[in-house]
Amino acid sequence: MKTRIAVLVSGGGTNLQALIDAGIPSGEIALVVASRPGVYALERAYKAAIPSMVIAKKGRTQEEFEKELCAALDEYKIDLIVLAGFLTILSEDFTKRYPRRIINIHPSLIPSFCGEGFYGLRVHEAALERGVKLTGATVHFVNEIADGGEIILQKAVEVKEGDTPEILQRRVMEQAEWQLLPQAVELVSQEINKNK
Ligand code: GAR
Repeated sequence: MKTRIAVLVSGGGTNLQALIDAGIPSGEIALVVASRPGVYALERAYKAAIPSMVIAKKGRTQEEFEKELCAALDEYKIDLIVLAGFLTILSEDFTKRYPRRIINIHPSLIPSFCGEGFYGLRVHEAALERGVKLTGATVHFVNEIADGGEIILQKAVEVKEGDTPEILQRRVMEQAEWQLLPQAVELVSQEINKNK
């Protein structure tokens, strides 16, 4: 049986699109959850005929938010949770419920430029400020430490003279993230299938 995958998003959803386009041979994207209404990722889910919903953090406690998220994941019988540009921090209570069942993509070579406050363009701004010549992307399991879980896959990407955060972000997405995420999801999905 195919693993049932939920993809959690907060923005444009290019990583969600990479998963849709690549296809996951051992699994299926059964649900997309957005942490904000109106994000373009929801449009991508709609176009691919994937059920989607908005579960917003704004105006609610962490507990209320996570209770609703867990209910949705249970309802859709989700085996694997993929954070693809999902910008809401998950509590230890939540991550402990899904050991080695939550993975995240981060746009740097962890342990550089990661942890709280490092998301989206900020990661690339920090890499350029530090003057690193190589950056990249990392897919890792999610535990209670921000960007601290076991690393699954990493890929390095060159920083070039004259890069802006936007140019670097695009290169990291094209050369690393959009390849790495489908590969990592398939690896973990196969592992889950074996143990089912
Ligand atoms: C991606 O670059 C992803 O790696 C990053 O947000 C972007 C989302 O883009 N995630 C983080 O920074 C997590 N700390 P997308 O919505 O187009 O996939």
